Amino acid sequence: MPVILGIESSCDETSASICVDGAILSNVIANQTIHEAYGGVVPELASRVHQQNIVPAVQQSILNAKISKNDIDAVAFTRGPGLLGSLLVGVSFAKAFALAKGLPLIEVNHMQAHILAHFIDDPKPSFPFLCLTVSGGHTQIVLVKDHFDMQIVGQTTDDAAGEALDKTSKILGLPYPGGPLIDKNARLGNPDAYQFPEPQIPGLDFSFSGLKTAILYFIRDNVAADPNFIAENINDICASVEKRVVTILLNKLKKAALQYGIKDVALAGGVSANTGLRQGLKQLGEEMGWNTFIPQFQYCTDNAAMIAIAGYYKYLKGDFTGQDVAPLARMPF
Ligand code: KG4
Ligand code: ZN
Repeated sequence: MPVILGIESSCDETSASICVDGAILSNVIANQTIHEAYGGVVPELASRVHQQNIVPAVQQSILNAKISKNDIDAVAFTRGPGLLGSLLVGVSFAKAFALAKGLPLIEVNHMQAHILAHFIDDPKPSFPFLCLTVSGGHTQIVLVKDHFDMQIVGQTTDDAAGEALDKTSKILGLPYPGGPLIDKNARLGNPDAYQFPEPQIPGLDFSFSGLKTAILYFIRDNVAADPNFIAENINDICASVEKRVVTILLNKLKKAALQYGIKDVALAGGVSANTGLRQGLKQLGEEMGWNTFIPQFQYCTDNAAMIAIAGYYKYLKGDFTGQDVAPLARMPF
């Protein structure tokens, strides 16, 4: 019954989790509110807050799991991709803890871990499946052949889907991070109120920069004509933007599923917390006869449970890392 401590610190969440024999017993997430004042994550501030939060987060995860730190068999940590300073805090903690307790280290790729979050709960997808991973920094369609055999078959050529939502919310004057607020407002608005363009990108790749510019010009022109435009129409704007982002994502996912002849289709990453996207995938899945998989909310945005479960599968394979490991801002699969 391997006991894995998982550590996540790639962006602005400090998280620690305990996984026992593939079951998540705790998942502590310390959010950083300091960035709200700046409209986006400030890397230097993020690393400093990680330093404050990492020990209490780990302590709490051990307490919540009702285990002792002496029960831990291995330490899994996010090696990358992410903000280097933020990653450095988690990697250094993991190395120090492992060294002090004489434990093996397991490095985890954050983007793979978002996908492996599907192996926390039942039912689990069967291989091969397709996963649409949408976060603040990435938009990928991944063909998942095995736990660690993954191939990116489509990805964004510019901005990520989450970035488009976060930038839209910034233009609307909403605080960071904007995705959840766009979601909240969109539930009260008409998704057909405004039409935004769907980019024509060949193959399975995405582009969100044209949409971002179209939204910027649309809001600028309407505010010039009526200074109260945003305040009076915020719900309809959010609903229409969300609808376009969701249709761009799902149209490519449908194309990929048809191209690869795949029926098990999953969502992952922070944007998979979005209500419109979750409903859209369910509906498309019913039309297409797919088995669809959507993680619980707590496993969508950044969390250490996904790192711990990825660590568990690597532990079973005996795939360990040396003490000389360093974090990577960019980390391909
Ligand atoms: O995976 P994640 O937590 O961090 C990265 O690895 O980037 O994803 C963060 C992204 C942000 O862009 C945030 O606005 C978005 O996920 N997000 C949402 C929702 N919750 C988080 N976007 C839309 N609707 C939501 N409910
Ligand atoms: Zn993430």
